[in-house]
Amino acid sequence: MAMVCLSDFEAYAKKYLPKIAWDFFAAGADDCSTRDENIQAYKRIRFRPRMLRDVSMMDIRTKLLGTEISFPVGIAPTGFHQLAWPDGEKSTARAAKAMNTCYIASTYSTCTLEEISAAAPGGLQWFQLYIHRNRAVSQQLVQRAEALGFQGLVLTADLPYTGKRRDDVRNGFRLPPHMKLKNLEGAFEVCKMSLLDPSVTWNDIYWLRSLTHLPIIIKGILTKEDAELAVRHGVQGIIVSNHGGRQLDGGPATIDALVEVAEAVQGRVEVYLDGGIRKGSDVLKALALGAKCVFIGRPALWGLAYKGEEGLQDVLRILQDEFRLSMALAG
Ligand code: FNR
Repeated sequence: MAMVCLSDFEAYAKKYLPKIAWDFFAAGADDCSTRDENIQAYKRIRFRPRMLRDVSMMDIRTKLLGTEISFPVGIAPTGFHQLAWPDGEKSTARAAKAMNTCYIASTYSTCTLEEISAAAPGGLQWFQLYIHRNRAVSQQLVQRAEALGFQGLVLTADLPYTGKRRDDVRNGFRLPPHMKLKNLEGAFEVCKMSLLDPSVTWNDIYWLRSLTHLPIIIKGILTKEDAELAVRHGVQGIIVSNHGGRQLDGGPATIDALVEVAEAVQGRVEVYLDGGIRKGSDVLKALALGAKCVFIGRPALWGLAYKGEEGLQDVLRILQDEFRLSMALAG
C-alpha cells in the first residue's frame, strides 16, 4: 500500500492495531464533538494565495525557544507508545531526532526518561508534566528531566481529571500487564490517574519555577484570559490545545482559539498549537494565524503503528513536503 497522506497511516493503524489500543488512541470525550471540530475547522479556513513571488528557494526552518528545528512540526506528548510499537517512546525519540524536530515526552511514557534521552542523544526533547498529589514525585521527575538534558518543561493544564472517553469505559481500557508507566514505577500503581492533583492553580507555576531552570511551556490554553495569565506568571511558551478533544467536549477547535490567544500574547511568549493537524496546509494555516510551530498527537502514533521509527519519519516527511508545497503555492 502506498502511504501518500496521513489518512493512509490512520487507516493502517485502524486495521492492524488491537481494537482496544486503536480505540484508546482515537478516543475523544463524550460525543467527540471537539475532537472532530479540531479537524473540521481547518476545512472552513481558506487561503488568499499570491502569485509570481519567486518560490524557488524556501526556508522552512524555525526556532523553538532559541533551538533550531528543520520545520515547524513537532511531536505532542502522548502516553503509552508501546501500545503502537514494541520499542515505544525510544522509536519516537529516534524519529524526531532523525527529522531534526522536537519531541515532547509524556509523563505517561512506557519507557523511562533515561531510555528516551539515551535513544536520541543531542535531540531536542521537552518533558511533559502532570502534577501529582504527591508533589515529591513530580519534583523528582522535573529534576530528572533537567539533569538528563531535556530542554523544556511542558505543564499540561487541562487534565485535573481525565475526560470521559466512552470507548475506553466500554473496553475497560488499561495497560497490558507487560507495559508499565516506567517513570512512575514505585510512585503509584499503574493507571490510577486519580492520583493527579486537581487542586493545581496558577500559583503552582511559581512552585515549578522554584524547582528548575528549564523554560516552562503551558499546554491546554484556549482563551485570551488564560493566555494573559500565563504570560503574567512568567511562562516562556503556550501550547493552544484541547488535548485532542479528549477532555472537555464542547470547547472550541484549537485553530479557532489560536486567533484570540495570539492576539492577546502579542509576541511576548512563543505560541504553539496542537489538535487536528493532518496536512501540510493545516500547518500553514496555523502559522498564518499566529502559531510559531505545531505539534502532532495521533498522527505520530499512526506512524509508529505502521513501522515504528521509520513509520513516524514517513509521517513527518509527508507533512514537511506538503507544508513546503503549500507555502510555495500560496506564494
Ligand atoms: C494525548 N495527549 C496527551 N497530552 C499530554 O499532555 N499528556 C499525555 O500523556 C497525553 N496523552 C495522550 C494520549 C493520546 C492517545 C492522545 C491522542 C492524546 C494530548 C496530545 O498531547 C495532543 O494535545 C493531542 O493529541 C493533539 O491532537 P491530535 O494531533 O491528536 O489531533
